[in-house]
Amino acid sequence: MARVNRAERDIVIECRALFFIAIVSISLSLWIVNSADADYYHDLEKNRQPCNDCHTLHYSESGTQPPGVEPGGPFQQLLIRATTTKLCLFCHDGSDPKAPDVLAPVTMYNGSGDEHSGAGFFENSGGAVSLSGHDLGIAAQSVPFSSMTNVTVSCASCHDPHGTPNYRNILTVPKGVSGDGTGVIMAADVFRNSPPTDPPSAQGSINAYKESNIGYKAKTSRWCTECHDNLRNHVGSATRTENHHLTDVPINGFGAMTDPAHWAGGTGTGFGAVTNDGVEGVPRLRFQSAGATDFPSSKVVAAVNHVTCSSCHLAHGGKFKKGLVWPYLEIPAGADANSGCQQCHNQ
Ligand code: HEC
Ligand code: HEC
Ligand code: HEC
Ligand code: HEC
Ligand code: HEC
Ligand code: HEC
Repeated sequence: MARVNRAERDIVIECRALFFIAIVSISLSLWIVNSADADYYHDLEKNRQPCNDCHTLHYSESGTQPPGVEPGGPFQQLLIRATTTKLCLFCHDGSDPKAPDVLAPVTMYNGSGDEHSGAGFFENSGGAVSLSGHDLGIAAQSVPFSSMTNVTVSCASCHDPHGTPNYRNILTVPKGVSGDGTGVIMAADVFRNSPPTDPPSAQGSINAYKESNIGYKAKTSRWCTECHDNLRNHVGSATRTENHHLTDVPINGFGAMTDPAHWAGGTGTGFGAVTNDGVEGVPRLRFQSAGATDFPSSKVVAAVNHVTCSSCHLAHGGKFKKGLVWPYLEIPAGADANSGCQQCHNQ
């Protein structure tokens, strides 16, 4: 029997210790990756992205155009693309499968069980009016239902490119002057089901950004009325008005105005599996759950669910006029024209 001398034994012990340390550090790093699920991307404080993904510090110093940078510079804020929107769409136009696609046509969610992402998509990359959502890069627009004038919408009108603690890096004060909107950070009121394959991967982004991965508690409608400020009084109001549909109010809070049992049941008039398939009915609209404490509780369907701006509209836009979730204003009217309304009203 070979006798293990001290040196050999020490090596064995050392190897075991190293093995143990390796296992511990592998589990720790896995744990760190997992706990990073809740983090937001473009989080520069945590160094999740290098500045030079978006900036170049010495555009013309060498007398040649730096690699990967658009010709014609230097550009404002030392950006590597001529405009902010162009910069964002460089990755978010579907060409990078890890970056959620926000520019039509979007196909990445096909087969995921959802028809689109939480925000939907823009019809064009800017400079042309869109009838089906927000217009990018058009100068001096007026804003419907708002005191704002002279607005040019870019990605940075709503998102902070450097990250915020808010859900989706949304700006706390998109209008530039504080309204009475989000107030506290929106992240506390939106729940995400941590995607299993985050950090960035093509499948991870499908899982993370598809519509059904998100649950809402409060403040999303308030956020929209930071800019659409004339609708503020209609968010969370206890009194029906005759000029705007209320939001952030319970479906069962206004007597016979709605059919809460029909909403809770989820079958029959208005409900269906696919939008615009020629058969009446669309997937259940989004809602918010005032009492939610986590992702599962935010998704519980009940008569007390609230109607929000995003029950009817997508934040970026979508296939249908006014960024509506279903083809309500299309001509000729299809089978789904009234489906969204019927889920709550069952008229
Ligand atoms: C170099 C490529 C790249 C550029 C440029 C880029 N993004 Fe992203 N962005 C990504 C990727 C990849 C993800 C998905 C990361 C993940 O979920 O792990 C992402 C995620 C996001 C998210 C979701 C964040 C979250 O955690 O909820 C937002 C919002 C976003 N980007 C906005 C922007 C805006 C606005 C710009 C322009 C200022 C921009 N991006 C420029 C690659 C890019
Ligand atoms: C995802 C792309 C992206 C990354 C990564 C990024 N920036 Fe920016 N940065 C932008 C955009 C876009 C603007 C212009 C925003 C606008 O249109 O108002 C900007 C503007 C700036 C400005 C001008 C002041 C301001 O906040 O508007 C500074 C300073 C700056 N960035 C520094 C940095 C530094 C330092 C880093 C790395 C730690 C970094 N940026 C990483 C996209 C990025
Ligand atoms: C930064 C300010 C700003 C914010 C925040 C904002 N909007 Fe808008 N919205 C505009 C402007 C400007 C227009 C008019 C030009 C256009 O269509 O983009 C507009 C137009 C619209 C339209 C008409 C689109 C069309 O196709 O005619 C709808 C619907 C809309 N917004 C809904 C929303 C919803 C829902 C939210 C919240 C998710 C929201 N907005 C947040 C500025 C904003
Ligand atoms: C009018 C405000 C507004 C503008 C303009 C805007 N976003 Fe968004 N964006 C939002 C909101 C609100 C969400 C979250 C929607 C939700 O999940 O309910 C979002 C979500 C996202 C996401 C997460 C993926 C998804 O599709 O849900 C990405 C990525 C993103 N935006 C990128 C961009 C880029 C790139 C631009 C410019 C081309 C842009 N956004 C312009 C409001 C805006
Ligand atoms: C119950 C569904 C529903 C809800 C909730 C809702 N909208 Fe709308 N919205 C519509 C419809 C439908 C239209 C198309 C015009 C119409 O019928 O009045 C529209 C039109 C708009 C327009 C375009 C007006 C124009 O003149 O182009 C804006 C802006 C808008 N909504 C913003 C919002 C905001 C912000 C919220 C949340 C505070 C909201 N909507 C809540 C259904 C809704
Ligand atoms: C997610 C649920 C929900 C959806 C979807 C919905 N509604 Fe409503 N609706 C309500 C609730 C709750 C009220 C009562 C509060 C109010 O008056 O806004 C209401 C009230 C109304 C009223 C009475 C408003 C008044 O002040 O007299 C009309 C009209 C109406 N809805 C039409 C529509 C139409 C048209 C659609 C589709 C474009 C629609 N609703 C979609 C929940 C919904």
